[in-house]
Amino acid sequence: MKIDKILVIGACGQIGTELVTALRSQYGEENVIAADINLPKPGTKNHLCLDVLDHEKIEAVVKEYGITQIYLLAAMLSANGEQNADAAWKLNVQSLLSVLKIAKEQKLDKVFWPSSIAVFGPGSPKYNCPQQTRIEPNTVYGISKRAGEYWCNYYFEKYGVDVRSIRFPGLISYTAPPGGGTTDYAVSIFHEALENQHYTCFLTEDNCLPMMYMPDAIRATLELMNVPKEKITIRTSYNLAGMSFAPCDIAAEIKKHIPEFKVAYEPDYRNAIANSWPASIKDEQARKDWEWKPKYDLKSMTDDMLQKLSEIKGMQLPVVEEVY
Ligand code: SER
Repeated sequence: MKIDKILVIGACGQIGTELVTALRSQYGEENVIAADINLPKPGTKNHLCLDVLDHEKIEAVVKEYGITQIYLLAAMLSANGEQNADAAWKLNVQSLLSVLKIAKEQKLDKVFWPSSIAVFGPGSPKYNCPQQTRIEPNTVYGISKRAGEYWCNYYFEKYGVDVRSIRFPGLISYTAPPGGGTTDYAVSIFHEALENQHYTCFLTEDNCLPMMYMPDAIRATLELMNVPKEKITIRTSYNLAGMSFAPCDIAAEIKKHIPEFKVAYEPDYRNAIANSWPASIKDEQARKDWEWKPKYDLKSMTDDMLQKLSEIKGMQLPVVEEVY
């Protein structure tokens, strides 16, 4: 029987940190190689330092370890992308082209590459944004993801590369911090609520965005990658929905646990990026093709985030009586 050997590129990032753990429980620690440009935490096993723009090195790693699947997670997110357009385009698109080419030449079984709600633009429907609609991204990140979606489709259609993709909403997690995204406020707000009981938000209080708790995102990735090839009808990238909320909604939810928590609003350029994205997503194709269903809503995500983060920070959450 052929052994699945997995290479995760961008393994130290927000998704990678949790995906490597999940993949290792599915495939075994020795079969999942974690690669990142950053050094891992001391004691991390099967880790390689790898620059995703180094095509020859990726190719050599694939050959040396007999890699059969690549998860390409390295990327520059929306807010940082607007400040570093050339670097964001190069990192986000060149890395994908490199991996797709290797997948074709080395006949890899599967590739996973995340896209984003950032592919949508001001012309897309604001609410319940469907899979097929007007898609005119207006950020460097969004343009790079939309181009990437078409490259995935191209490599599938032309060369049969089994590349699968999800348009992730903003991801919320407690293990590794996100970096340089517009939706990242929804992670920082938890840290600030616990440490300072105060947060200054860079979006307006009513700027609603699609979001997802990381356990749902990891499960979605594994489910999509495990589904038989014939079930996959979208070869650009699947819409995926978890929950939708605005800064005032998450602030109110956190306040139920930390009553003295206060938020100030000082919107900056990131507010315009958020304004150009849908407030909610319709994901009927993912539900149909691989029976996708999110588990977490705003309340259950907030409860879990505060619980886990306070444990990590060695803090005691105040016990708040629920009022019915
Ligand atoms: N989380 C991303 C960002 O804010 C969107 O997918 O850039």
